[in-house]
Amino acid sequence: MKKMSMIMGMLLAVLLIVSVFPDCSSKAESTIKTGIIGAMDEEVDSLKKAVSDVKITSICGMDFYEGMLDGQNVVVVKCGVGKVNAGTCAQILISIFGVNRVINTGVAGSLDASIDIGDIVVSTDAVQHDFDLTPLGFAPGTLFETGLQALPADSSLRESAVNAVRQCAPEVHVFEGRICTGDQFIASTQQKEAITSVFGGLCCEMEGGAIAQICYLNEVPFVIIRAISDKADNSAEMNYTEFEHAAAVHCAAITRYMIAH
Ligand code: ADE
Repeated sequence: MKKMSMIMGMLLAVLLIVSVFPDCSSKAESTIKTGIIGAMDEEVDSLKKAVSDVKITSICGMDFYEGMLDGQNVVVVKCGVGKVNAGTCAQILISIFGVNRVINTGVAGSLDASIDIGDIVVSTDAVQHDFDLTPLGFAPGTLFETGLQALPADSSLRESAVNAVRQCAPEVHVFEGRICTGDQFIASTQQKEAITSVFGGLCCEMEGGAIAQICYLNEVPFVIIRAISDKADNSAEMNYTEFEHAAAVHCAAITRYMIAH
C-alpha cells in the first residue's frame, strides 16, 4: 500500500512538471535545422566557409557541411546542376540530416521584362516547366501523384527572405512570384515565350521545382531565392558568364542574413 502511494506520488510529480513546463519535452524536437542548397560552388562557397563546428559528410558525390551558421543549425550543400541532383540532395537533407526547412539559393534567368540582371526573385510557388503529361489529359507541369501544377513556398520563409533583401540590400529590387524549373538552360526568346505563355513565372532555373517537390512530399517548408544572372534570351549565355558569379555571391549573402535574423 505504502509502495503504491509512493508510485502514485511520483507519477503526480511528473505530471505536474510536464504541465508547468509544457514545452520542455518538445524543445529538442522543435529545434530548427535548415538545409541550404545551391547548384554551384559560387552559390554556396561563402556559406560553407562560415559554418562553424563543421562536420563534412559525402553522400552521392555531394559534400554536406553540417554545423552552426550565425547561431543556427544548418547543413549547406552544393547539389550540382539539374532536377535529379537537386531532388536527391533535398531528400538526403531531410532523411539523413533531419533538416526541417529548406532554402534554395542561386541564380536564374529572368522571364519578365521588368526583372533585370541583379534583381532578386523570392518564390511564391514553383513549377516544372518540362514536366509534360498533356497527352494523358493533364494540364502542363501537373505532377501525376499530387495532381498539382505549382507547389507553394512557405509563407513565413518567403516573408523572411523578402525582409532579408530589404534590410541587407535595400538598393536591390525584390520580386515575389512563380519560379519555373526545367532541365534546360533557357537561351532564346522562343524558349522563354514557350514557358511564360503556359506558366507565367518570373524566372527560370534548373533545381527549385525538384526541391519543392521533395519538400512538399515530406511536408517540409521551403523557399527559393534567386538572383538574376541573365534574361533567358539570345544574350543569356554571354550575360550568364559575366554576371553569374556576382549574382550567386550576392544571393548567398542574402541567404546568410536571412538565417541570422
Ligand atoms: N540559371 C541561370 N540562368 C538560367 C537560364 N537562362 N536558364 C536556366 N537556368 C538558369
